[in-house]
Amino acid sequence: MTTAPSIAAQRVLVLDFGAQYAQLISRRVRENHVYCEIVRHDITPEQIRRHAPRGLILSGGPSSVYEGGAPMCDPAIFKLGIPVLGICYGMHLACETLGGKVENAPAREFGRARCQVTSGGDLLAGVPESFDVWMSHGDQVARVSDDFVSLAKTKTCPIAAVKHKSLPVFGVQFHPEVTHTPLGSHILHNFLTTVCGCTGTWKLGDFAKQTIDQMRGRIGNDRVICGLSGGVDSAVTAALLYQAIGPQLSCILVDNGLLRKDEQAAVIAEFTRHFKTDLHVVAGEARFLATLKGITEPQEKRRRIGHAFIECFKEESKQIQDVKFLAQGTLYPDVIESGAAADGPAATIKLHHNVGGLPAELGFELVEPLRDLFKDEVRRLGLELGLPEDLVWRHPFPGPGLAVRCLGEVTKPRLDVLREADAIMIEEIKAAGLYRQTSQAFAVLLPVQSVGVMGDARTYENAVALRCVNTDDFMTADWTHLPYDVLARISTRIINEVKGVNRVCYDISSKPPATIEWE
Ligand code: XMP
Repeated sequence: MTTAPSIAAQRVLVLDFGAQYAQLISRRVRENHVYCEIVRHDITPEQIRRHAPRGLILSGGPSSVYEGGAPMCDPAIFKLGIPVLGICYGMHLACETLGGKVENAPAREFGRARCQVTSGGDLLAGVPESFDVWMSHGDQVARVSDDFVSLAKTKTCPIAAVKHKSLPVFGVQFHPEVTHTPLGSHILHNFLTTVCGCTGTWKLGDFAKQTIDQMRGRIGNDRVICGLSGGVDSAVTAALLYQAIGPQLSCILVDNGLLRKDEQAAVIAEFTRHFKTDLHVVAGEARFLATLKGITEPQEKRRRIGHAFIECFKEESKQIQDVKFLAQGTLYPDVIESGAAADGPAATIKLHHNVGGLPAELGFELVEPLRDLFKDEVRRLGLELGLPEDLVWRHPFPGPGLAVRCLGEVTKPRLDVLREADAIMIEEIKAAGLYRQTSQAFAVLLPVQSVGVMGDARTYENAVALRCVNTDDFMTADWTHLPYDVLARISTRIINEVKGVNRVCYDISSKPPATIEWE
C-alpha cells in the first residue's frame, strides 16, 4: 500500500528576526495553501536541509544589521540553492551578506508609500508599474553589489525590491504580509509558486483527514479525555477526536460559574445532540465561588481558579475508566511562544496565561491535534467538521472567565449583572454586523458606584466599562472605533435593562500600554 504524500511536505520556513512579523508571514504563506513553520534565525544549514523546505523567508525585525548583537543568520543559507525572500530586516541581511550596504535612511518611511517597478517579472509578475506598499523602516539598502538587480523603488528608497542575478535570493523593503500592502499576497504568491515551485498542497480538509487517520492509529482502542471550555480550540479538538474515535472520547466540562450567558448550555447542546459524546458536566460553581470569596487581587484570582479547575478535572477524570490520553487544544502560536517547537524561536514572549492547562501529574499521554494550526485555520477546520458558525467564530475568552472582568470581589449577583450587560453588548454588536470584524468585545463590571438619576429618584449604582479591540495576534491591539449609534444602543439598553447599572463607559486604550483584559 502506498501512503499519500504529506500535505505538509512542500514547506517553507520563516526565519524569525522579530516574532510578531514572523507569525503574520507564516499565516499568509498558509493562506496560499503552503505549509509553513517558524524557526530560529540562527538555524544551521544542516537543520534547514533536514526540513527540506521549498523556500526560506527571512522576517523583518526591530534591529539594525550594522549594530553589534543584531540577530544574524548563517551566510551559508544563501548558497543552499533554496529560494530566499528577505523582508525588510531580512532583505538588509541578505544584501549586506552578499556584498551590499545598509544605512540609516535619510528619510524614514512609516506607513503607505508608492512603489515604482523598475524591473518586473518573477517576484513582481503581474504587478502594475506603480503600486501601494506599507513601509516601516529607519534603515534601507543603500547599495547592492553588481550581483543584484534592483526591481523597485519609492521616492525615498531607491532599492525597494531586489533580486540576485545568479542565486535564488530576493528582497523587499516593504511588508507584503500586511493587508496595507494590497498586492502583498500576490507578491508572496509569486514567490511561493513561481520561485519556490509550491503547488498549494496544504488544505484543511486534507489536514482533517490525515489527522483523523493519525489519531486513530495512535490511540487504537484506548480512551481519551478532553476538557471543553466553551471556546473554539477545545471544541474543534473534541470534534476532530470524535470523528477519529467516536465513543472512546469522553469530554469534561467544568461548570465554574464564570462563563458568559448561555455559553455552557450551547456547548452542552452541541456535544450531546450533534456529536453525541460522553459528556461529563462537573457542577463546580459553588466551589469556585467559595474559593474566590473575598479575593480581589487579579493574580490570586487566577491562581485559585487554576487550582480549583485542576481539582475538579482530576476528580471527574477518576470516574472515567481506563483513560490513557488527554487531548488539549494547543495551537501553533502556543507552541512557538513556549519555545517548544524543534528549531523554534526561543521563549521570548510571555508564556500564555495558562489557566486551564493541566499538569503532567495527571499521568495521561498528551494528544494535541491542533498544534500545527493558527487560530483562523482552527476556525475553518471547525466549520469543516460541522461545528456551528456561532461557536466557531466566538471571540476568545480567558480561562479564568468572567472573574477577571468582575473587578473587585467575584460574587454570584455581581457575575449575573456582568453576564447581562455583556450579553447585551454582544447582541448589539452582532445586530450591527460588526461581530466578525472585531477581535474581542466584552463588558467589565467596575468596583465603582456612581450617582445617577432614574425617574425622580437618585441612584447610586454600578458602572460598566465596554471593551472592544481589533488585533491580529492579541499581543498588540487597537481599541475598536465602534460607531456612536451602536455604542449608544448598548449603553441605553444596559442602563434600562440591567438592574444595578446606571453608568456605561467605553474603554479607549490600546495595547500596549493597556492590556486587553482589565485584570
Ligand atoms: P491581555 O489581557 O494580556 O490578553 O492583553 C491577551 C489575550 O489573552 C486572553 N487572556 C487570558 N487567557 N487565561 C487565558 O486563557 C488568562 O488568564 C488570560 N488573561 C488574558 C485575553 O482574553 C486576550 O484574548
